Amino acid sequence: MKIFTSKSEIKEFLSTQKKDKKSIGFVPTMGALHQGHLSLIKRAKKKNDIAVVSVFVNPTQFDNKEDLDKYPKTYEDDVALLESVNCDVLFFPSVQEIYAENIVSDNFDFDGLEYQMEGKFRDGHFDGVGTIVKTLFEIVEPDTAYFGKKDFQQLQIIKKLVEKYKLPVKIKGRPIFREEDGLAMSSRNTRLSKEHREAAPFIYKTLKKAKKKFGVKAPEELTKWVEKQFKKHPLFELEYFTIADEKTLQTVTEIKENMKYRAFIAVFAGDIRLIDNIRLKNN
Ligand code: PAF
Repeated sequence: MKIFTSKSEIKEFLSTQKKDKKSIGFVPTMGALHQGHLSLIKRAKKKNDIAVVSVFVNPTQFDNKEDLDKYPKTYEDDVALLESVNCDVLFFPSVQEIYAENIVSDNFDFDGLEYQMEGKFRDGHFDGVGTIVKTLFEIVEPDTAYFGKKDFQQLQIIKKLVEKYKLPVKIKGRPIFREEDGLAMSSRNTRLSKEHREAAPFIYKTLKKAKKKFGVKAPEELTKWVEKQFKKHPLFELEYFTIADEKTLQTVTEIKENMKYRAFIAVFAGDIRLIDNIRLKNN
């Protein structure tokens, strides 16, 4: 695997690959890689000639300095995992390489997608995501980029970014990868206490129960039911649960035919914030 820390060097290498008509599949990450990331990388490899992964903990998408400082950094393990799936190129730039002296994000208009859910609770988060993803796309110039559906809102926002800026890259959303007990894989899971980790499958279990009740209970009633389940739980604090239209990400109060809906959740397990979502069937 080739490892680059400099923008100009990776650009130069990839431009020779492009001249040789090699297609590039790209997986942007913040490191602390797990099986969910590896499945994206395997997909990128299967569908392209070259798989490129970036590991960059992007400071501008954190609204909380402590969360940024505590974000797991596991460079050696990441490199070993990337090698185990035959990743071709790793881009591992410093903050200075990406932002120089100006660590700020651009302002984006994602047609309102950015004001829903995560956007309500994480100030400036999607401006940070938009800034880094656009920058990375400009450096790597991938044919296709792969993102997990655990961050479903992020995925829709990146599709919007590509549409608005007419970026020449295809965006593919891939299924959520779960631990055997159902917990959605996340780099943050490693920071859970033993007690929280053991209890964490409760989140997905509740989502699955909500999925069953969808269509029987109206969205507002279902939301109240989920809120009640979390109020009763001694270890978790629910930040939000909402049923939203997959396209606009707006909370719905009424279910219509031929529309796609998803339930979204954010939960605090101590000071670790976990998110998850589930597709709902509209019968
Ligand atoms: O999903 C992530 O890991 C990050 O938000 C991303 C897309 C790599 C941008 O920093």
